[in-house]
Amino acid sequence: MGKIYRYRIGKPLQTEAVVQELPIEKGDVLYLERVQKLDLAKEKADGQECLLQRDYWRYPLTQEDRIYGLGENVRGINKRGWIYESNCTDDPIHTETKHSLYGAHNFFVVDGEKTFGLFLDYPGKLVFDMGYQCMDELRIIPKTWDLELYLILGDDILDIVKQFRQLTGRSYIPPKWAFGFGQSRWGYQSAEDIRAVVKGYRENHIPLDSVYLDIDYMEDFKDFTVNEERFPDFREFVEEMKRERIHLVPIIDAGVKIEEGYSVYEEGVEKGYFCKDEQGNDFVGAVWPGKVHFPDMLNKKARKWFGAKYQFLIEQGIEGFWNDMNEPAIFYSEKRLEQVLKKLRSIKNKNMDMWEVFAFKDLVAGLANSPEDYASFYHNINGKQVCHDKVHNLYGYHMTRAAGEAFEEIEPDKRLLLFSRASYIGMHRYGGIWMGDNQSWWSHLLMNLKMLPSLNMCGFLYTGADLGGFGGDATEDLLLRWLALGIFTPLMRNHSALGTRVQESYQFTQTETFQKLINIRYGLMPYLYSEYMKAALRDEMLFLPLSFVYTEDPHAREVEDQLLVGESIMIAPVYTQNATGRYVYLPEPMKLVRLKGMEEIETEVLEQGHFYVDIPLDEVVFFIRPEKIVPYCSGGQSMEEAEQQEIKLLDFVTGTAEYELYQDDGYTKDYQRPEHIQIVRKQNGKRNV
Ligand code: GLC
Repeated sequence: MGKIYRYRIGKPLQTEAVVQELPIEKGDVLYLERVQKLDLAKEKADGQECLLQRDYWRYPLTQEDRIYGLGENVRGINKRGWIYESNCTDDPIHTETKHSLYGAHNFFVVDGEKTFGLFLDYPGKLVFDMGYQCMDELRIIPKTWDLELYLILGDDILDIVKQFRQLTGRSYIPPKWAFGFGQSRWGYQSAEDIRAVVKGYRENHIPLDSVYLDIDYMEDFKDFTVNEERFPDFREFVEEMKRERIHLVPIIDAGVKIEEGYSVYEEGVEKGYFCKDEQGNDFVGAVWPGKVHFPDMLNKKARKWFGAKYQFLIEQGIEGFWNDMNEPAIFYSEKRLEQVLKKLRSIKNKNMDMWEVFAFKDLVAGLANSPEDYASFYHNINGKQVCHDKVHNLYGYHMTRAAGEAFEEIEPDKRLLLFSRASYIGMHRYGGIWMGDNQSWWSHLLMNLKMLPSLNMCGFLYTGADLGGFGGDATEDLLLRWLALGIFTPLMRNHSALGTRVQESYQFTQTETFQKLINIRYGLMPYLYSEYMKAALRDEMLFLPLSFVYTEDPHAREVEDQLLVGESIMIAPVYTQNATGRYVYLPEPMKLVRLKGMEEIETEVLEQGHFYVDIPLDEVVFFIRPEKIVPYCSGGQSMEEAEQQEIKLLDFVTGTAEYELYQDDGYTKDYQRPEHIQIVRKQNGKRNV
């Protein structure tokens, strides 16, 4: 029997993460012990000293306890053994040594002797020590003790996650075309560049549904503008692309350029909708366009105002957006730049020793995203001035909410694509997220896989990583292997940074292989879309670690490089360069499906156990679970084309099985019409559908 206990500590700020109003429990928090300040003399930790001076909650971990969740973060599916920080951060180097990425997702489940979920609804900095200072202790260290805590008990992890998801509301559902393949790159300068990308895809018969417009489409990086020289007659260009079955998806950044005559800037100043500094002036930071103001996304009126601005692009035919730099990222602030320059002048001609060189380097590197800046500007929340660092983790959420709420008004019946870089729990109701600035590293392919279930636990279903990697140079095999995983992720987008090796699929030699792999995505769409819809409408996960399902199987519990995708499929992608296959663990007998294309499918039934499976670069392998069905089709060059194909079935059914297929129009919000497919296997092995 499930139950959610809600506790209120101190005077928490309202985050609007949850959608249910539960009664507040009296008394101490179950399971957690509050420890008053540590004995500093006894404990030492690298770089984390300050934490030790604060009170914390403690939960003793037994050897078999595992910890799952925390959404977008580094390291494993089992989060035990590291220290994580809830602090939306613009940091493109996602190495194991980091403690936070762009999102703040404070939900996790401890699974072991006791199994329970915890959600800490707290928008400031929060530390989760998952057995780092002390291997057998979980510690939760909020910066201040003003928060709401939800303790969730249930039958098992899946039940706990479902209750949490019901508590926080239904996940965002994108339009169907947004499940098609997308191409992006920072540096497409003009309509001509975009046309060349579309031509590259269409001429090589590689399916494509969207092209993303990075900051280059704007006029001097100003939100809600289009550079008319490089994108003449934008409205007509958007239409031209639609005729090619391509959706253009522009980026919107958080910072608004300070420039006389720029209407968004002028209106924001006039209405007082920007964040303020200590003196009550509009706070000045710098991002792509140079100096900017940040719209006060936590102020209802400002949010409504900013959201309405998306109309400028919607009325030109745009149906999707990605919100960026909304941690918010700050390259520097006027005030800190001044201090740093002063310091730099003071060391001119100085003979710097080691410490001074270190300090010098930190000085310049520390200009960006500095905690001092975050502590120096203010929001107006229902008439109250609140310092940004107290609500830092809500900024990206409320920027995306601004857009989501505006879309409800502008296009109430239509689904628009929306995803963000920064996020907090609650934002999953308005949009998805992408995993930010990863690198063209094999380890990031695996990290992409590991993040999927943790994000799903927190409600983020529409998600994916920059396939091929954002930073660094992608190799052909890395991109192919990454696409083989990306086939299964709701957001399937190839994106890369300015100055890196070009990585559109047609830029490499094995064009036919790219064609085949991406077409497999379209071929599996009847299954992938149905599973997405079920996960969203039933508050469930799309990607599951094996340990959530095969709970009694000690091998399955430790698998961190295979996932279940929906009810029928298990995936085991290759993530090692030069590997021609990999070891796969089957927790039960399964049917191996080898796709050499949608028309060339081989299958083989394997028993439970460990297997080495050959997976050449140009094939996609997955596994069907017993008594399960996978609807598919032959694919197409676009979602529209794929949708016209006949639905066929793959299955591993020996008796009778049923499958619920979602085939809605994909564009309106009229989702709830699954069709039931049944397979009855007769004794002669033939199937009746
Ligand atoms: C940020 C985004 C990245 C984008 C770049 C330029 O780094 O994360 O996706 O390409 O900004 O807009």
